[in-house]
Amino acid sequence: MTKPILITGSNGLLGQKLVTLFQENKIPFLATSRGENRLSNLPNENFISLDIQNAKEVEDIFEKIDVSAVIHTAAMTQVDDCENQKNLCIDLNVNATLYLSEICAKKDVFFVHLSTDFIFDGKEGPYTEEAQPNPLSFYGASKYFSEKVLQHTPNLRYAIARTVLVYGIAESMSRSNIILWVRKSLMEGKNIQVVNDQWRTPTLAEDLAMGCYLLAKHQKTGVFNISGIELLTPYDMAVATADFFGLDKSLIEETDGSKFQQTAQRPPRTGFILDKAMNEIGYKPHAFVEGLEILKTQLKN
Ligand SMILES: NC(=O)c1ccc[n+]([C@@H]2O[C@H](COP(=O)([O-])OP(=O)(O)OC[C@H]3O[C@@H](n4cnc5c(N)ncnc54)[C@H](OP(=O)(O)O)[C@@H]3O)[C@@H](O)[C@H]2O)c1
Repeated sequence: MTKPILITGSNGLLGQKLVTLFQENKIPFLATSRGENRLSNLPNENFISLDIQNAKEVEDIFEKIDVSAVIHTAAMTQVDDCENQKNLCIDLNVNATLYLSEICAKKDVFFVHLSTDFIFDGKEGPYTEEAQPNPLSFYGASKYFSEKVLQHTPNLRYAIARTVLVYGIAESMSRSNIILWVRKSLMEGKNIQVVNDQWRTPTLAEDLAMGCYLLAKHQKTGVFNISGIELLTPYDMAVATADFFGLDKSLIEETDGSKFQQTAQRPPRTGFILDKAMNEIGYKPHAFVEGLEILKTQLKN
């Protein structure tokens, strides 16, 4: 029998999309997240509660279950929280990655790790995989350290999937994303201010799940950019969202980053060049408007 792929953080946005992808394609998997399973359509036999900060729990699970690969999505993902709670951020984003990578190396399990465009300073985006990181925030630094952990774990076979501003909808989400926030605000008739001086290649969560799966399936080692393909500002995204859902775009005020006081500094211009993932693993992201179409269907359901 084919060994399952283990997902960490299955209650999160990417984790849930991986569960759906694996269920739809009958790919054996084991979903794990801290606390209770929050996905209504995930049977108990496919879920084990796992707190990745607990090295013993991590080790125990690998002693009990033989897996082919790990897709490590769990992390402290709120950028400002990482700035305010640095110890917790290091524990979750770096130390937990160390526990997982050591056990994967020992058991010869392929490791797919999630990283971010926030490892860059945003001076020269869009970036290739070879660009030099220079994080501006503690979150970005923690993810850069986590990449270093993998690079320094002897005998580990791994891929790093770097991604950018992930959007989508899932059950009981612990955080929102720009599309859902813009849509909800405009539906409620609220005025919103959206910046026009940051650039990103926003990523449909389903595309990211597929990219991670392709890396695990082909066991391709190295760094891969896995994001959307269009370079857009948050303001562009907000206007496109308003147009797509037939909402009042006069409620959107174009502004720039200098008007906002945020705890963590954001890189101005990131975004990714995707040639490597497209050529080497057949990654094919949806266009932004196609992503909105997919989201619309899910919101109807
Ligand atoms: N979202 C983005 O825009 C973005 C951009 C670049 C990179 N990434 C990276 O992509 C990955 C997936 O992001 P996402 O959007 O799916 O994030 P998410 O929705 O915040 O999901 C992260 C999940 O990790 C879980 N988790 C946190 N601490 C845990 C622990 N100690 N043990 C087990 N599970 C734990 C969280 O559980 P709770 O739900 O219980 O809190 C949450 O469900 C992350 O590594 C992130 O850094 C995301």
